[in-house]
Amino acid sequence: MSDQSGGASAPAPKEVTVPDLVAMKRDGKRITMMTAYDAAFARLVDHAGIDVILVGDSLGMVVLGYPTTVPVTMDDMVRHAAAVSRGATRPLLIGDMPFGSYQASPSDALRNAARFLKEAGMDAIKVEGGAEVVETVRTLTANGIAVMAHVGLTPQRVAQLGGFKVQAKTARAARRLIDDALALEDAGAFSIVLESVPAPVAALATQRLGIPTIGIGAGVDCDGQVLVLHDVLGLYGDFKPKFAKRYADIGAAVTTALQEFDREVRDGSFPTAEHSFTMKESELLSLQRSLAQQKAG
Ligand code: KIV
Repeated sequence: MSDQSGGASAPAPKEVTVPDLVAMKRDGKRITMMTAYDAAFARLVDHAGIDVILVGDSLGMVVLGYPTTVPVTMDDMVRHAAAVSRGATRPLLIGDMPFGSYQASPSDALRNAARFLKEAGMDAIKVEGGAEVVETVRTLTANGIAVMAHVGLTPQRVAQLGGFKVQAKTARAARRLIDDALALEDAGAFSIVLESVPAPVAALATQRLGIPTIGIGAGVDCDGQVLVLHDVLGLYGDFKPKFAKRYADIGAAVTTALQEFDREVRDGSFPTAEHSFTMKESELLSLQRSLAQQKAG
């Protein structure tokens, strides 16, 4: 494996912590967050200098092939989060609580959130929702679990919302979103994702909150930005939200590489001697003799 660490003698970079993120808002430094779902990509996200890795339940759509995030289970999340924590060292690691893992009761949420910390090496967890999850956020933070909140478009409610639609478009809905965000901050959330909300609403929420806002489809005035890795790399074509910027088309590069493999195997140009193993001539002769004797006998 190649060394992508910048050299064996380079000092290990300082790990990003929850207080670091809050300090970044205070100091006017923008926060970067990216999803990842396995060790290989987590390593690459880490090497790119991204501050936070979210093991998002978007896993269900971009990796597991479901049409929504709803079917994702705690076991799915813990397995992938553990892989991410084996691949990344510097970024703050956040595990996304899947649908059904925190809604029934705060104690249910506590038990499931603890799995992210104990079994998967996560630093914090994320829950979707406004006023209805405030009590849960209070319980988790009171018990030592750092919580990132998530308001606006909350994909676990996609059926109720009637699709992946922009939220908080009226003054009333926007006011509710800002009030929810303030209540979540008061309950102890250390940061909050604002998804698919008009940019001016996100800007007003960001001004009013002491904790950092991380936008996705929420304009440039949030304290940080998050995108889904597979959207960024062109690895997911099933659904492309307006906010998802494609920075590379790795999907096309993968198809080209696999087509070349397919052609080379079929026409016999792969493998060459470079990718094959050999043996001593004397051993080969001995093998051929033994096979010839067996045939004759
Ligand atoms: O699951 C996810 O990837 C998310 C981000 C889109 C914020 O919740």
